[in-house]
Amino acid sequence: MSFLMSSASAPRTEKVPATAPVFELIEVEKVFQVRPPNSGLSRKTVGLRALDGVRLRVDTGTSIALVGESGSGKSTLLRVLLGLDAPTGGRALYHGAPIREARAKGRDFARDVAMVYQDARGSLDPRMTVEALIAEPLRHFNIVQKDQIKARVAELLDRVGLPTDAGRRYAAGLSGGQVRRVAIARALASEPSVLVADEAVSGLDVSTQAQLLTLLRGLQRDMNLTLVFITHDLGVASYLCDEIAIMYLGRIVETGPTDVVLNAPAHPYSAALRAAAPRFFEPMPEPLSGEIPSPLDLPPGCRFSTRCPAAQPDCGERDPQLGRFGAHRAVACLHPLTNPQA
Ligand SMILES: Nc1ncnc2c1ncn2[C@@H]1O[C@H](COP(=O)(O)OP(=O)(O)OP(=O)(O)O)[C@@H](O)[C@H]1O
Ligand code: SF4
Ligand SMILES: [Mg+2]
Repeated sequence: MSFLMSSASAPRTEKVPATAPVFELIEVEKVFQVRPPNSGLSRKTVGLRALDGVRLRVDTGTSIALVGESGSGKSTLLRVLLGLDAPTGGRALYHGAPIREARAKGRDFARDVAMVYQDARGSLDPRMTVEALIAEPLRHFNIVQKDQIKARVAELLDRVGLPTDAGRRYAAGLSGGQVRRVAIARALASEPSVLVADEAVSGLDVSTQAQLLTLLRGLQRDMNLTLVFITHDLGVASYLCDEIAIMYLGRIVETGPTDVVLNAPAHPYSAALRAAAPRFFEPMPEPLSGEIPSPLDLPPGCRFSTRCPAAQPDCGERDPQLGRFGAHRAVACLHPLTNPQA
C-alpha cells in the first residue's frame, strides 16, 4: 500500500511497548443511571449495567467480530474502546495505557484508531463534497503536503472502488453502498492501524454487502489493520473476522477463533445464534425462544438461564464467569455443550 508509506506523513510521537495488545479490557463495567420504567414523576434513578465484567484482548493485526442480540452491549463496548465513554469499573487499555488517557493526549490515538459509523450517511457533513470529506483528515493530521492532497484523495477513492469523479459529488447523491465506501476512505485517510466499525454493512443489498466485505477483508490483509467489527450477522463475522466475541446482556459469553466457535459452539447462546442464522436453500429457522430479560431485572444465577435449552438446576444459583476453555477460547457456562478439545 503505497499511500501508507508516505514519507511526508507526520511522525507518531508516543512510543508503546511492542508486545502490549492493541486493546485490553479487564473486568470492564459500564453502568448508566436511568429512570426505571413506570416511575411516573419520580426523579429516582437506578443503575443499568450495560457492560458487566467484560474481559477482552485484541492483538495487533487480528480481526474480531462482536456479535449479539440488540441490547447486548456491543455499541457500549465500542464506545469504551474508542474512549468516548469511561468505564464505571475495571480497566480499559490501549497499548497498555488507559484508553481515556491515550485519547485525551491527543492526535496519536485519534489518528491511529479510525471509526466507521453505523449511520455512515449521518456521519458525513451533507454540505461537503466527497473530496473535501476525505481531504479533511489528510489536512488535520498533516498526512501529506498540501499540493499532494488531491492525488491522495484520488488514491483513496480508487482503493475503495469509487471513480475519481465521485470526489465532486455530495453524500445525498450517493447510494447506500457508495456512502459506506466514502466513510471507509475517510477513515483510512489518517493511515490508522485500527479500524472499528459498527454494523458497517447492515441494511445493504446482498451484492453490495459482499463487495464491501471483500473490500474490508482486502484492506485488513494488505494494510495489516486491526479490525473490530460489530455485526448481528454470523455469516459476516465468519467471512471477515479471525476471532469472535459473543455477547449477551452486557457480558462476553464465548470468545475464540471464529471457525472453532461457530463449528462447535460451547455456550448454548452461541449455539442458539448459530441455529437461528438463515441459510441458503433451507427453510427459515426458528428465532431464539423467549424474551431477552431487561438489564434492570436480571435473573439470578446465569443470565441466559431463562432461555437456555441446556439449563440445569444449579444454573439458577451460580453466575458463570468467562473462563479459559481449551487452548484458544473462553466460555461463561456451567455446562458447556462441547469439550475443550473440540
Ligand atoms: N446512554 C445510555 N443511557 C442509558 N442506557 C443506555 C445508554 N446506552 C446504552 N444503554 C443501554 O445499554 C444496553 C446496551 O446497549 P447497546 O446500545 O450497547 O446495545 P447493542 O448491543 O449495541 O444493541 P443494538 O444491536 O440494538 O445496537 C441497552 O439496554 C441500552 O438500552
Ligand atoms: S450456565 Fe446453565 S443456563 Fe447458563 S448457558 Fe450454561 S447451561 Fe445454560
Ligand atoms: Mg448498537
